[in-house]
Amino acid sequence: MTSPQSTALSAPARDWFQRAVVYQIYPRSFADSDGDGIGDLRGIISKLDYLQRLGVDVVWLSPIYTSPQDDNGYDISDYRNVDPLFGTLEDLRELTDGLHARGMKLVMDLVVNHTSDEHPWFMESRSSRDNPKRNWYWWRPPRDAAARSAHRGADAEPNNWGSAFSGPAWEFDQATGEYYLHIFSKKQPDLNWENPEVRAAVYEMMNWWLDRGVDGFRMDVINFISKDTALPDGPVADGKLFGDGTPYYIDGPRMHEFLQEMHREVFAKRPGELLTVGEMPGVTVEEAILYTDPARAEVDMVFQFEHVALDQEDGDKWRPKKLLLTELKQTLGRWQEGLAERGWNSLYWGNHDQARAVSRFGDDGKYRELSAKMLAGILHLHRGTPYVYQGEELGMTNMTFGAISDYRDIEVLNHHREATSHLGHTDAEVLAALAPLNRDNARTPVQWDASRHAGFTTGAPWIAVNPNANHINAAAQMDDPDSVYNFYRKVIALRHAEPVVSHGDFTMLLPDDPHVYAFTRALAGSPGDGANGAEMPDREMLVLEMLVLGNFSGEERNVELKDETWAGAELVLGNYASADHPSDGGAAAAGPLRLRPWELKVLRRSRRA
Ligand code: NOJ
Repeated sequence: MTSPQSTALSAPARDWFQRAVVYQIYPRSFADSDGDGIGDLRGIISKLDYLQRLGVDVVWLSPIYTSPQDDNGYDISDYRNVDPLFGTLEDLRELTDGLHARGMKLVMDLVVNHTSDEHPWFMESRSSRDNPKRNWYWWRPPRDAAARSAHRGADAEPNNWGSAFSGPAWEFDQATGEYYLHIFSKKQPDLNWENPEVRAAVYEMMNWWLDRGVDGFRMDVINFISKDTALPDGPVADGKLFGDGTPYYIDGPRMHEFLQEMHREVFAKRPGELLTVGEMPGVTVEEAILYTDPARAEVDMVFQFEHVALDQEDGDKWRPKKLLLTELKQTLGRWQEGLAERGWNSLYWGNHDQARAVSRFGDDGKYRELSAKMLAGILHLHRGTPYVYQGEELGMTNMTFGAISDYRDIEVLNHHREATSHLGHTDAEVLAALAPLNRDNARTPVQWDASRHAGFTTGAPWIAVNPNANHINAAAQMDDPDSVYNFYRKVIALRHAEPVVSHGDFTMLLPDDPHVYAFTRALAGSPGDGANGAEMPDREMLVLEMLVLGNFSGEERNVELKDETWAGAELVLGNYASADHPSDGGAAAAGPLRLRPWELKVLRRSRRA
């Protein structure tokens, strides 16, 4: 084990977000106040006490801005207003005040790799080739004009890149005879960050939001904003129709320059107050160190995607494969190690783009509750800032959708169309392949109670409610001390109470064990005011250690630790009702630690350094 970080055990003076837990709200699916079937801001306001009781520190709100809703709000047509679907600026003010009054912060989604094609900036830009905003987006002439007139799109498009939502990444504009780039849907044209006017407009908008009391930003695909301006063709993989442009727009040449500029122009004006997290598909540990090193002044943390690609062939979510626990440990362990000295991790199992955590990493059948709790403990006790995606704290599961008409997500619908019409797959094949990892799994409404539509809406929900809402719901869990919800409360409280959780070193154990996830955390310091129950008679240095064990299987497992003395340590948290641990009942017998199916055990001890 490396030598533990040294600090006062009671209250390390670091950034506040390092002790915080973030809760993500996907507004469309959270709570509907007006019966139109779509969640809204007043719905969120009605659940503030629920969030406070859970104990989270920050709410990240997925986009609520004015939007044609082509990609559920990730296509923004007015950055300074609220879409009437969700409410008004006044409602947002009330939500912000309500969060602040309860000691929570508000982080807004910032979607500035692209706008909606209905944003006035784009409408101006497309209006003529010499419009002053033409260069705010990526316009290019047809590569081959003859091919264009012959409607041979693939030969005419400026390069071979495919869009993340199927089809080409270019859309032809008849009026001006040029193509524009859209990495996502054709209603999400990419902004040209090479243009300083674009950057200035974005920073001004961000400052406007900070002036309105928001406490930070989750920055959508922010590592796509700097592109290789030559826009070269990308490699075409087997079975694909288009080239992969990611080598030319992920972590592009001016990324760090742009983020440092944004930091100077926006974040530096609120030192120590904000939380900034960059969503960064394809980011490597080496790049993440640079993005999150405080000395470089870019962002506080990033969302990496390596651990959520391990159950896919070649990172293709439509070709799911079995997850190996050894690979999960290897990946998350590498991120823990990589950002140990410089930078900071964000920790997540799920969000609105990922399958439900318990269905993906746990067992959503017989062991749903146990495995949901085990996953909570494992994730939150890593070093980093944990994120809870709405409904995860209830152990909500993936949805079984039937026909393609049951889906709502543009990514699914476009893929289904392309795979059945151009790639020769049958409807049944496509539906089977997309079931485990499609994004709509996470977008079914939050299950508040067992009433009609799970208490989410009095109207017709925009997407079906999971029928298991009759037994998996908040009302059934709030007052049940053994519920998943109340277990999340305990895990969150543990992070707040224990500096070793927020600031301790991380060491992965048992990397080759296929079933047991095991790690230690350690923090050295003076006992200070005796926090953590670590009453010490003198001012000697003390090392606080925590051992976290999780069984990722439905069978009992022995845990073969090199250090057998852990068997006698204090059990601080477990997910079984009866602890069944040697330290309980005075039986201090050392011996192998055993884990029951999907069991979590968190042990603690302290020693003099
Ligand atoms: C990432 C967002 O999380 C996702 O929902 C969205 O579709 C894309 N970025 C495009 O904005």
